[in-house]
Amino acid sequence: MPPFMEPFRIKSVEPIPFPTAGERRDALVAAGWNLFRVPAGAITIDLLTDSGTAAMSAAQWSALMRGDESYAGARSFDRFESVVRDLTGYPEVLPVHQGRAAERIVLGLLLRPGDISVSNTHFDSTRASVEAAGAQAVDLPVPIARGEPAPFGGDIDLDRLRDLLRRSADRVRCVVLTITNNAGGGQPVSVRNVKATRQLCDEHGVLLYLDASRFAENAYLVTEREEGYQGRTPREVARVVFDLADGCWASLKKDGMANIGGLIALRDAGLARRAREQLIAFEGFPTYGGLAGRDLEALAQGLLEVIEPDYLRYRAECARWFGEQLGLAGLPVLQPTGCHAVYVDAGEMLSHIPPHELPATAFGNALYLAGGVRVTELGTLVFGRRDPDGGPDVPAPRELVRFTLPRRVYTLSHLEYVVDVAETVSSKAGRLTGYRIVEQAGALRQFTAVLRPAA
Ligand code: F0G
Repeated sequence: MPPFMEPFRIKSVEPIPFPTAGERRDALVAAGWNLFRVPAGAITIDLLTDSGTAAMSAAQWSALMRGDESYAGARSFDRFESVVRDLTGYPEVLPVHQGRAAERIVLGLLLRPGDISVSNTHFDSTRASVEAAGAQAVDLPVPIARGEPAPFGGDIDLDRLRDLLRRSADRVRCVVLTITNNAGGGQPVSVRNVKATRQLCDEHGVLLYLDASRFAENAYLVTEREEGYQGRTPREVARVVFDLADGCWASLKKDGMANIGGLIALRDAGLARRAREQLIAFEGFPTYGGLAGRDLEALAQGLLEVIEPDYLRYRAECARWFGEQLGLAGLPVLQPTGCHAVYVDAGEMLSHIPPHELPATAFGNALYLAGGVRVTELGTLVFGRRDPDGGPDVPAPRELVRFTLPRRVYTLSHLEYVVDVAETVSSKAGRLTGYRIVEQAGALRQFTAVLRPAA
C-alpha cells in the first residue's frame, strides 16, 4: 500500500485514449519517431510536462465566473495582486501570459550586451532571454557525486559563485535561483544557500532574482529536509525565501495550478515602471497582461491551494512512491526525488546505445510503443550539440528521461499502469536500439526533429 492517498475527490472527468499497439506504432512513425509530434489523442498517460496541465479545483472553476473582463482596472487583477503580495511580500505585481514572457521582460531590462547572468541552472527559455539580450548565461549547479543522494541538489555552487564574482563582478548583473531546479532533477534550493547567495550578491552589488515557477514545492521540500525549518509551514518558508531576493518571476503554469499564466513581482518601483511599459507594448494592459480576467481568478485561487501542506505532502509522497516503484521495476531512478517529476538515467540503462544514437529517446519511444506512455527526453536530442565538422553530436552530460507529474491529474492506479509499462520495457532494455536524426532545426531541435531507427 502506498503511504498516502490523493487529498481530493474527482468531480469532473475526461476519457483517456487507448490506442492499440498497431495504432501507437503508426502514430510514432507518422510523427518521425518524435514524441513531441505525436497527437495527444494517441497518448494513454501523458507525463510530458507538469506545465499548464493541472486539473483545476471546484473553487477555481467557480472563480472563473467572477472573472472581470474589463480592459483596465479589472477587479480580478486586484484579487490576483493581493494574493501575490501576501505570498511574496513584493509590492509590484505584473501578470504575464506565461513564464517566458516574464523572463524576456525582466532580463531584457536588466541585462546589457556583455553582462553575465549566473544561476544554479537557467531553464532553457531563461537562457534564451539572457542570450537575446546579448548577455552570457553561466550555470553553476552544486556538484553532485554520482550515486550520492544530495538533499539540496538544486543549490548554486557557492565556491564557484564567489570565484566568479571576485573575477568579474563588474560583468555579473544578476544571480537567478531557479526554485526548484527543473533542469537539475527538480531538486530544491535550501534556505541556507539562498541566504549565502544573498550575502555574496550584497558584497558585490549584484541583484538576486528567483525563477519561482515551483516555489511551493521548493518550500515544502525545505520543510522536510532542512534543519531549522521542520515544523514551519510551506507558506512561511516560501516567504523567508522571497524576503531574501530582489524580486521574482514565475511560470504560473506550474505552481499557479492553472493552465496558463505567469507573473513578475518586484521591490524596485522604477524597474516595475519600465516593465509595465514593456507589458503594454507586448503583452497587454498591466491589469491583465495577456490573460483573461477569469485566468487571473483561477490563478489567485490556485496560489492559495498550492501552498496547502496536505496538497504538498501528497505531491512529494506521490513522486517518492512512484520513484520507488520505478526503481523496483528495474529503472535507475535519480534519488532523492523532488515533487514534479521522477528522473531516470536512460544512459545507464541503455549503455549499449551510444549518445549520438539517442538512448533517452530510445527509452521514451519504447515506453510509448509498449503502453502509450509519453515522457520527456532530456538527453542528447535536447542538450547535445551538432558537431561543426559533421561528425556525431557532442553528447549531453547525461541521458535522462523525465516522468513528469501533472498536478492533481493522474491517480495512483494510472501511475501503477506506468510502472507496469516501464517494467516491460526494462525487461527488454538490452534489445532496444537507437535513433538517428534525419531533420533538425537550428535551435530547440527536440520539438520538431524527424528521426529514424538506427538499426
Ligand atoms: N522556468 C522554469 C523553471 C520552467 O520549468 C519553465 C517551463 C519556464 C521557466 C518557462 O515557463 O513555459 O510558462 O513559458 N517549463 C516547462 C517544462 C515547459 O516542461 O519543464 P513557460
